[in-house]
Amino acid sequence: MIQRKSQREIELMHEAGKLVAKIHKEIAKFIKPGISTLEIDEFAEDFMKENGAIPAQKGYQGYKFATCASINDEICHGFPRKDKLKDGDVVKIDFVVDLNGALADSAWTHPVGKVSDEAQQLMKVTKESLYKGIEAAQAGNRVGDIGAAIEQYVEKYGYGIVRDFTGHGIGPKIHEEPNIPHFGRPNSGQRLKEGLVITIEPMINTGIWPSQMDDNGWTARTVDGSLSCQYEHTVAITKDGPLILTEQDDIN
Ligand code: MF3
Ligand code: CO
Repeated sequence: MIQRKSQREIELMHEAGKLVAKIHKEIAKFIKPGISTLEIDEFAEDFMKENGAIPAQKGYQGYKFATCASINDEICHGFPRKDKLKDGDVVKIDFVVDLNGALADSAWTHPVGKVSDEAQQLMKVTKESLYKGIEAAQAGNRVGDIGAAIEQYVEKYGYGIVRDFTGHGIGPKIHEEPNIPHFGRPNSGQRLKEGLVITIEPMINTGIWPSQMDDNGWTARTVDGSLSCQYEHTVAITKDGPLILTEQDDIN
């Protein structure tokens, strides 16, 4: 069943989203070579708690951390760890906040020190592809329009769009229907309706798209060792167009 939200529910999710955005901006300020993803995780969890929020990922299907931290060829669901980040790494930090029962989910790619031109271009294209997908998230459009917009934009760079993980409906649980693939055909799939809240979270590889699962049963990485980037927003479909609940530019 696809859950549609009231304006009040969307407002509450927006409050959660603003906290998510704030945490990403804070992380961007202190991330540098020598910092560990476990330190980032602890910072994020503390920040949530100080602001009356709960780290929604902790305990979700047995996941143990407040954040996922995926480095370089890790696509998603990397575990925060003690190892120090190195100059030139790219790290994807992904987390869900529960504020007063309302959820918001966003992943962001953070460069560590000076990253390669290849990494910079992948980051730029992946972020732009997210916004192309969001533009297509209009009431009356279909789920496939989002994926098609992303695919059409990314295609010309020859990058691989990960197919094993998708965006998703969100609230009251982290993962709700519908799935939102980041590739697809225009005018296909379910109709997008006002009140639907979804995540759009393209994972894009410099190499081929298939992923392999680590022995930990969680972490996905590229099969060819190529670099992977991800940007994710939680987006509400409203009569006035897509409303980005986790937008970082709207807040201090
Ligand atoms: N934010 C992640 C996603 O969109 C949530 C991962 S579930 C967890 O898929 F358990 F790994 F946290
Ligand atoms: Co998500």
